[in-house]
Amino acid sequence: MAPFAAVVVAAGKGLRAGGCVPKQFALWRGTPLVRHSVERLLDAGAAPLVVAIPDDWRAEAEAALAGLGPVVLVPGGATRQASVRAALEWLDRRGGIERVLIHDAARPDLPGEVIAALVAALDGAPGAIPVLPVVDSVVRGDGGLRQAAESRDGLYRVQTPQAFRFAPILAAHRGWRDAAEAGDDATVGDAAGLAIALVSGDERLRKVTFAEDFDSADRDSHDDRTTAMMTRTGAGFDVHRLVEGEDLWLCGVKIDHPRGLSGHSDADVAIHALVDALLGAIAAGDIGDHFPPSDPQWKGAASDRFLAHAAALVRARGFAVGNVDVTIICEAPKIGPHKAAMRERLAAILDIAVDQVSVKATTTERLGLTGRGEGIAAQAIATVFGA
Ligand code: CTP
Ligand code: MG
Repeated sequence: MAPFAAVVVAAGKGLRAGGCVPKQFALWRGTPLVRHSVERLLDAGAAPLVVAIPDDWRAEAEAALAGLGPVVLVPGGATRQASVRAALEWLDRRGGIERVLIHDAARPDLPGEVIAALVAALDGAPGAIPVLPVVDSVVRGDGGLRQAAESRDGLYRVQTPQAFRFAPILAAHRGWRDAAEAGDDATVGDAAGLAIALVSGDERLRKVTFAEDFDSADRDSHDDRTTAMMTRTGAGFDVHRLVEGEDLWLCGVKIDHPRGLSGHSDADVAIHALVDALLGAIAAGDIGDHFPPSDPQWKGAASDRFLAHAAALVRARGFAVGNVDVTIICEAPKIGPHKAAMRERLAAILDIAVDQVSVKATTTERLGLTGRGEGIAAQAIATVFGA
């Protein structure tokens, strides 16, 4: 088979399927939906393979695709078309791509024969799509009433993957001027004048759209998981070193103190512990996964951005923050006078009420690293509820 790249779009919200995660990450036949077609494409030799994902579901996407061959994750867009475009632009920057298959993650059962037929069809046309004949009668309806019968001759149902010569489909996407979204990539190609060959599709390629499209076994396990996830907790812990010449930030409040905490961001140890607690509650990794200290954009960053992001992730997964409880561990400064301001600040960042936020403090009786004043430690716990 000629070499080909692949794009799998998995950046939708899966609203029609319901559930507490976008459908592409829900289990289908016991495995995350998106994993199925990615695996089939890799097996068929797709390289590179780019998956467009919702930006704030990266941890889920990585977990869903763990252990497969090389896969590139790119943030998708607000529409399917924008997600395809983002992946095509990544491939263009990578360079050297001649053929590309563009596929919906929502079509998990992707037979290898369809992939082979599509790639082969690109020898004779700049585009190729899998189609199935329309078997039912077709009528036009209006206001709930049957109007004229339509001939189904020459009508087909269109599936994905859709295969294209890379340069012309990229140009077609870049040149799309219609304000409305195209239904599929063949529509984009057609608008740019590309000839699109028809190859035989496969019933197995049906799109998973509604909750009932998941097998009942998966739905049961999904429901069990959902119920079990209705209340979840996470814990976080962090330490930063106290040094001369740094500002001291705790719980998003700047405190007048001769020394401050050192670290890559503003080193707000209390917020860092709380971010880890929230991420822990939704099993979305830890603060280092989301804001790597090696990334210069987080140098000196205000930690309230990290906390707002963690809260957004919690909400995106269908949860609401129940309560958070932060304990700051240090001999100095005295935390008591700042507690009220700290609770208010955390509540504002998390967009919850002040009575859902607790800030406490303790010393370690002058023992250990906090006792000697070498650093400040903080621990936090967070509860989230299925919304
Ligand atoms: N898709 C995407 N980016 C979007 C919207 C959709 O990558 N902004 C992807 C979906 O993840 C899916 C495919 O396009 O794999 C087909 O879309 P659809 O079945 O409509 O999925 P969703 O848009 O996620 O579902 P819904 O319309 O029910 O919200
Ligand atoms: Mg959609």
